[in-house]
Amino acid sequence: MPRKLLFLIVVAILITVPVLLIASDDVEDPKLAVYVGPVDAERPMEVDLGRSKEVFVNTCSKCHSLKRPLGKTKDRAGWEKTVNRMNKNNKKRFGKEIPPLDRQEIVNYLTAKNTFEATCSKCHALSRPLGKTKNRAEWEKTITRMSKNDKRRFGEPIPDDVQATIVGYLLENAGK
Ligand code: HEC
Ligand code: HEC
Repeated sequence: MPRKLLFLIVVAILITVPVLLIASDDVEDPKLAVYVGPVDAERPMEVDLGRSKEVFVNTCSKCHSLKRPLGKTKDRAGWEKTVNRMNKNNKKRFGKEIPPLDRQEIVNYLTAKNTFEATCSKCHALSRPLGKTKNRAEWEKTITRMSKNDKRRFGEPIPDDVQATIVGYLLENAGK
């Protein structure tokens, strides 16, 4: 094979591989308000925050009270930064890292909590939803109605992925 052709092939591979990697990253992170973990074909937006909450409670209460993270409001990028720093704190103190999947679940849970708080505090106190207990179908119905309230008042419905995130969060914190 002529050296020039070989060179071109190598360059083509060097360019394509990173592009493919970036593209597959996009598939894994569909920019939901919450990363959904294993996606169920029936409910692609489904969010199971049960395990996430459990991992959060167990992992983040080892060195300080949960009030420390629960009292903060951050977006996903902000929580990723904090959880990565906590991972370093953990390594320094206990000699091991917080497993990557656990870190992801914790970021999901805290992002979901802040998404719920930002979306559902615009018209009334959060105690309104948090004072109720409802099952999945009931929360879905309420949130669909709130989305209509939102559209009437502010011109925009609550996006589907945000609704799914909030249903997941409320099932863990005001579910039955
Ligand atoms: C190994 C001990 C340890 C563990 C485990 C730990 N933290 Fe921390 N955390 C600290 C220390 C030390 C500080 C103060 C210094 C700092 O911010 O790094 C802190 C501070 C914080 C703060 C306040 C500063 C900020 O950036 O807002 C938040 C929020 C927080 N932690 C969240 C978490 C979360 C979420 C987890 C679970 C992933 C966690 N912590 C687990 C040791 C820990
Ligand atoms: C645009 C304003 C607005 C937003 C945003 C909003 N609500 Fe409401 N909410 C209302 C109004 C108005 C009522 C009373 C009338 C009704 O129930 O539709 C209400 C009542 C409620 C009730 C009591 C009635 C019931 O069905 O139990 C709950 C619970 C509730 N909201 C939860 C939520 C949740 C969860 C969110 C976030 C997804 C949210 N709200 C966002 C306006 C809003």
